[in-house]
Amino acid sequence: MLVLGIESSCDETALALVDDGGVRAAVISSQADIHALFGGVVPELASREHARLIGPLLDSLFRQADLGPAPWKSIDRIAVTRGPGLMGSLLVGVAFAKSLSMAHDIPLIGIDHLQGHLLAAELEHDILWPALGVLISGGHTHLYRMEGPVDMTVLGKTIDDAAGEACDKFAKAAGLPYPGGALLDALGKRGHADPHLFPRPYTHNDNLDFSFSGLKTAGALWLSQHADAHFPPGDTPARERLDSASQTLCDAAASYLLAVAETLTIKAERAMALFHPESIVVAGGVAANSVVRQEFANLAERHGIPLIIPRLSLCGDNAVMIAKAGWHMAMAGRVHDLSLSAIPRGQTIPQDWKTL
Ligand code: KG4
Ligand code: ZN
Repeated sequence: MLVLGIESSCDETALALVDDGGVRAAVISSQADIHALFGGVVPELASREHARLIGPLLDSLFRQADLGPAPWKSIDRIAVTRGPGLMGSLLVGVAFAKSLSMAHDIPLIGIDHLQGHLLAAELEHDILWPALGVLISGGHTHLYRMEGPVDMTVLGKTIDDAAGEACDKFAKAAGLPYPGGALLDALGKRGHADPHLFPRPYTHNDNLDFSFSGLKTAGALWLSQHADAHFPPGDTPARERLDSASQTLCDAAASYLLAVAETLTIKAERAMALFHPESIVVAGGVAANSVVRQEFANLAERHGIPLIIPRLSLCGDNAVMIAKAGWHMAMAGRVHDLSLSAIPRGQTIPQDWKTL
């Protein structure tokens, strides 16, 4: 079973081929540098860039995969991210996938981007079922009960900002460019965390939802009171002059990331008490964070179960995870038809597949 995966939900345009043995080929182009000029993703620019890049990226994917003179003959399914994401960006990928499906008579499968993230780690590690899924990205923070690769239920989610957004906003308020999460991580590694500096928001309740807006406000307030903690202005890219950050900012970054990570593990541990998972899967861009990785490693160790996290290059958006999710959908006999709709952020992904 060879599956072509297509991802265009935000600011990465990506294509991948996954078969029974794993990844056959993968290409990706990030627009982060373009959006950094504006301090965040500009939806109109993102969709235009996807439309410009997706065709040439398919050509380079096929060159990498070397599928022979009739590449389409060997592809069994086309899996595409249908949501959640930016509507204009999703529509580029979905329209592209539909035209390929129609032109080459290959069944189409629509993928929930968040479930794709959770399956990325499965390319390298076996997930023990049932698993607790922790999806932490720039736009989403969801806890899942994962019964299997195509059977996941949302247990809780953020009611306002996502974990990644909370990191990006603190970084931005400190003077770092978008997306600041990884830069904050780099600063935090040089700092000492004060566990009392920032709150663990929305944890004094008995639900499994998150709210990071209070932490974001606490971070912004703290920064407004500490002028010495701001990243110094300069013309050279921030990545090249991280060394110039003050120790005060490094300490605050470490404290802030600890607040984010502990907020996540407090709710994750509460979810574990509900169904005693055999493993914990942590995925999405924020799964690349070193403090988050460490806190979840501690949680898994305390419960004596494995922690499954994708390698860093598969934490962020990519098409390998979409192709892998498509592979599982194909194995379960599920397909969509050309009426497949794109679903924007905030709406539920319908379970509208057909079974072969
Ligand atoms: O999953 P992803 O690539 O895209 C979305 O679907 O949102 O996640 C992007 C998010 C951004 O907020 C980015 O700042 C954050 O992941 N991120 C990090 C790190 N690397 C990426 N946040 C904290 N620490 C990191 N090392
Ligand atoms: Zn994502």
